[in-house]
Amino acid sequence: MKTSEERLKDLRVRKAQSEAGGGQARIDAQHNRGKMTARERLELLLDDGSFQEFDALVEHRCRDFGMDKNVIPGDGVVTGHGKINGREVYAFAQDFTVYGGSLGEMHGLKICKVLDAALKTGRPVIGMNDSGGARIQEGVASLGSYAEIFFRNVRASGVVPQISVIMGPCAGGAVYSPAITDFVIMVDKTAHMFITGPEVIKTVTNEEVSFEDLGGASTHASKSGVSHFTAESDEDAIGMARDLVDLLPQNNMEKPPKKNTSDSIDRECEKLNSIIPDDPSKPYDVLDVIHELLDDGGFMEVQADWAQNIVCGFGHLAGNTVGVVANQPKYLAGCLDIDASDKAARFVRFCDSFNIPLVTLEDVPGFLPGTNQEWGGIIRHGAKLLYAYAEATVPKLTVIMRKAYGGAYDVMSSKHIRGDYNVAWPGSELAVMGAQGAVEIIHRKRIKNARNPEQERQRLIDDYNEKFANPYEAAALGYIDDVIIPSETRSRLCRTLEMLMDKEELRPAKKHGNIPL
Ligand code: HXC
Repeated sequence: MKTSEERLKDLRVRKAQSEAGGGQARIDAQHNRGKMTARERLELLLDDGSFQEFDALVEHRCRDFGMDKNVIPGDGVVTGHGKINGREVYAFAQDFTVYGGSLGEMHGLKICKVLDAALKTGRPVIGMNDSGGARIQEGVASLGSYAEIFFRNVRASGVVPQISVIMGPCAGGAVYSPAITDFVIMVDKTAHMFITGPEVIKTVTNEEVSFEDLGGASTHASKSGVSHFTAESDEDAIGMARDLVDLLPQNNMEKPPKKNTSDSIDRECEKLNSIIPDDPSKPYDVLDVIHELLDDGGFMEVQADWAQNIVCGFGHLAGNTVGVVANQPKYLAGCLDIDASDKAARFVRFCDSFNIPLVTLEDVPGFLPGTNQEWGGIIRHGAKLLYAYAEATVPKLTVIMRKAYGGAYDVMSSKHIRGDYNVAWPGSELAVMGAQGAVEIIHRKRIKNARNPEQERQRLIDDYNEKFANPYEAAALGYIDDVIIPSETRSRLCRTLEMLMDKEELRPAKKHGNIPL
């Protein structure tokens, strides 16, 4: 019979085996690639000394391909919970030093346990991915565990925030867990995501493409829109995940935490009185407006390099987390297109899921014209944004800064789809379309028959602008609540938001709606 001292020693040996992962040589290789180990990542993610591990002694059950002689306790993923700035979260980190972080049956079930616990307790989940994908030796058992994870990701969606940090390979069907989660952070140069790799692509389509071009961080940040944030290093990525958690509620039943600020809610934003160029066709940078309005100018932009004609991100007003959606006149004149609609629709739905008020800054000349857009389904995609805004019941505040034309006027959180507070700046233009286009349609014959067509066209344009290119017709109808001086915008938004924070609005009970996808 073992003495209690021997039992303790036995436990320590087992734990040490688990902590050693795939051994020093593989840990060194990980470091040589500029990557941290799974445990180092968790240490950095969580507040000092707060990490509580579980399932360190889980082992795989595979007996084929010599796997019975190669059992590493923990099975290639470190799981548990801890705190981020004092708030509880669940987390897991795949360990590339153990079978390349590949996901076998038990490895997958460990992640399932994390997701189940997060759902049960209403805590966010941060997953750090660094994996060769399905563990080949375990065959369909590995695929089964993947699907168990996907199912749980879907079940937890909209209940607890889920953040994926990609810090190495993430290939094949494995990409679908991060894709379902709310935010994907990729580390530049070391993270790669793709369904089929360069070799398969070469065989099937004869295209030649590198790992980096196919599925690197910059590709997914700028081309595909799969990732939301690009980090320079593991440390940077972990810092982003912590920042994100700080902004968010723990679950859908809570409000986001209030942030302390010394920025007065009545701070005048003088710069905004002259930020819009006199020439309505001239662009400006809407990020300048956003920084001016938000508490201490702080703004965490989401998908900054993709669909840049719309800006989405988080900041604070009077200490409250808000989600900002803003048309960006610097790109495509701020038109809505397929990607911008997808980007903003998903962002709006995230904010609505987690009780984050929406601030919409509008300067939109309409939907982008063109066969690419029409054949690509701008009708279907644009409908997503309309649907997302109409469905959202969080406080919705909208400032029309300049143009609000056509269908885009309706879509961008208008009063008619239940905006709570809609205001416009004095130089704004709310109309079916711009003067030039409108005059060509309704006065075509008149212009053609005029003695001086050019002069007549200009007269009609001026006339149209005088009548419609202003906010006062909409104000007279109550479609906007006020026309405000731009420098007062921060104060108006902060004060209205405080009033709206306890807003309650219901939609008819249903299983779920059928958002156009
Ligand atoms: C088992 C794996 C593995 C896997 C890597 N390893 N991938 N073991 N199953 N899928 C092991 C290697 O044998 C090696 O073990 C160690 O991990 C490190 O791998 P290396 O190849 O030496 O590392 P590196 O050169 O950095 O290459 C990493 C890699 C490559 C790009 C990930 O290993 C690779 O291509 N792996 C296969 C990827 C893949 O095809 N996976 C299946 C995708 S399909 P030793 O003992 O030598 O250290 C899929 C379906 C999911 O995942 C479906 C869900 C629905």
